[in-house]
Amino acid sequence: MFRLSQYLRDLHEPPPTGPVRQPPGPVVIWNLIRRCNLTCKHCYSISGDVDFPGELSTAEVFDVMDDLKAFRVPVLILSGGEPLMRRDIFEISQRAKAMRFYVGLSSNGTLVDDAMADRIRDIGYDYVGISLDGIGATHDRFRRKEGAYEQALGGLRRLRDRGIKVGVRFTMTEDNAAELPLLLDLVEREGFPKFYLSHLVYAGRGNKNRGDDALWQTTREAMDMVIARAWRWAQAGSEMEIVTGNNDADAIYLLQWAARNVPSAVDALRAKLKRWGGNSSGVNVANIDNLGNVHPDTMWWHHDLGNVKERPFSAIWTDLSDPIMAGLKRKPRLVGGRCGACAYIDICNGNTRVRALRITGDAWAEDPGCYLTDAEIGLAGPVDRVKTSLYRGMSHEAPLSA
Ligand SMILES: C[S@@+](CC[C@H](N)C(=O)[O-])C[C@H]1O[C@@H](n2cnc3c(N)ncnc32)[C@H](O)[C@@H]1O
Ligand code: SF4
Repeated sequence: MFRLSQYLRDLHEPPPTGPVRQPPGPVVIWNLIRRCNLTCKHCYSISGDVDFPGELSTAEVFDVMDDLKAFRVPVLILSGGEPLMRRDIFEISQRAKAMRFYVGLSSNGTLVDDAMADRIRDIGYDYVGISLDGIGATHDRFRRKEGAYEQALGGLRRLRDRGIKVGVRFTMTEDNAAELPLLLDLVEREGFPKFYLSHLVYAGRGNKNRGDDALWQTTREAMDMVIARAWRWAQAGSEMEIVTGNNDADAIYLLQWAARNVPSAVDALRAKLKRWGGNSSGVNVANIDNLGNVHPDTMWWHHDLGNVKERPFSAIWTDLSDPIMAGLKRKPRLVGGRCGACAYIDICNGNTRVRALRITGDAWAEDPGCYLTDAEIGLAGPVDRVKTSLYRGMSHEAPLSA
């Protein structure tokens, strides 16, 4: 995750430099259930309204939590499927809070009526993220359910009114990118304190429908928009926050923006971005799926590292015998193509490997989602890369079935 607003606030008002802190264990995104009342077009977990046998029992979840705590995992993001469809979700959440994890809930928001909002408030989640992939009919089309937008917005409002820190998660494609300014206006107007721009990853139904991915030029315009908005908020001293995810080139795009707009601060920003270090799948971010399989992140469900029913998470996570895991943990990562030649690889760390894998068959090839021009990544050449996706619709392998 890239904390855009945080960097912009620091540009506006440089903070005193503190010690660099190494995160203790990885942030764990935990898909506790795969069942979902929606069937979104881009869903990496290929969820639907059916039961998926073999999911972890409450007791098994509790055992894993003990191991995660001992391994010094600081954050649990409880996700799905739709996590609110799991009958023991509040029991699990209560225990996680009592164990002093930072606990986030990742929901589609459609089930959050007043009674549910009260129960969520009583748990004291540190953060609740709800997806909005457009306004009104656009969101409903994306999420393939009429009325989903009104329900999700209602859920966000009910939680906000109960004093819970909520955020809007927006996954962008070519089909909904035009609504980004409307969503930014919405969060500002409604006082939802966080906005997460999530770039599409070619996983699950997101791989099947990857032809819908935003063109590079669309992504650049979206980044211009979120940077402008976050900069305005930073200058106004607002606490409103924008973060982005699944495209670590965003950090380099911000650096280029700073070179044009706040040149005196560029060196300090570059040093900070290097410390952040870009993509952290398999390093500071981990995933456990509904069956207990461990993955380098949520987009790697086709690649199991081990199962928590058989081996503790801590043992699976530190085992480098898996070549993907060893490659992800390598510093610097051995990536090819434009990523390998990029002057800013020390900032972005090669971006999203799953996209490279899905398009070329090679997890270490260049990420086709990088929207930066050759000049911007220090590749001087007579012809700059055209800014429309050459890869859109090209298929290395048959798409996954939905
Ligand atoms: C799998 S959902 C689970 C939580 C909940 N059901 C929801 O939709 O918010 C978690 C988040 O991942 C996002 N997401 C799903 N598939 C994605 C993909 N292929 N690329 C990027 N984000 C994706 C969703 O939009 C959502 O914000
Ligand atoms: S993205 Fe979320 S709401 Fe949509 S189908 Fe997947 S799990 Fe369900």
